[in-house]
Amino acid sequence: MTRRTESAVTARSFTSLAMREVLGSFCTGVVIVTAVGDEPLGFTCQSFTSLSLDPPLISFSPALTSTTWPRIRKIGTFCVNVLAENHPELSTKFARSGTDKYAGVEWTPSPKGSPILDGVVAWIDCTVWAEHDGGDHTIVIGEVHDLASDLQQHPLLFYRGNYPQRPFAQGGNA
Ligand SMILES: Cc1cc2nc3c(=O)[nH]c(=O)nc-3n(C[C@H](O)[C@H](O)[C@H](O)COP(=O)(O)O)c2cc1C
Repeated sequence: MTRRTESAVTARSFTSLAMREVLGSFCTGVVIVTAVGDEPLGFTCQSFTSLSLDPPLISFSPALTSTTWPRIRKIGTFCVNVLAENHPELSTKFARSGTDKYAGVEWTPSPKGSPILDGVVAWIDCTVWAEHDGGDHTIVIGEVHDLASDLQQHPLLFYRGNYPQRPFAQGGNA
């Protein structure tokens, strides 16, 4: 793998804000990555994606500033919770660093013991497979050990910094 160093990056014709705005046009779902150490842990993440079927791998990218990811990395086991359309508040709650994210949140343990949050569309039980440099983020690859989904539920979407309301309703206004 070749890695571009800071000094090799040439002057850009766009700002970080423009990058954020343009990349925000790419609509995603929202997950909360959870684990249990001394206490239950978790953080909201939209950079989640399916990666490989054989072996079964997924990926997501925590910022280097995340205080929760280093704690989950140390545990080595985590669960990806795919949020449902009625979960915008849960998404915001788990994005607040240094708060009691689990206050009032019901969960049950996954087969590997990580929290499955009540009402999620899907959960994916993983162990850390690899981690790679991703600039101001780190690219985590997880090996999938177990998973399930609720086909009756619609996922929460994230688009241009907002959660589109009722995108799955007939004539939805996403
Ligand atoms: C919808 C949404 C998507 C997010 N996606 C990411 C992401 O992909 N990677 C990331 O590092 N932070 C993401 N965040 C921000 C983190 O949730 C937040 O910075 C982090 O949880 C801070 O808590 P921590 O210090 O406990 O890790 C997202 C936040 C929201 C609301």
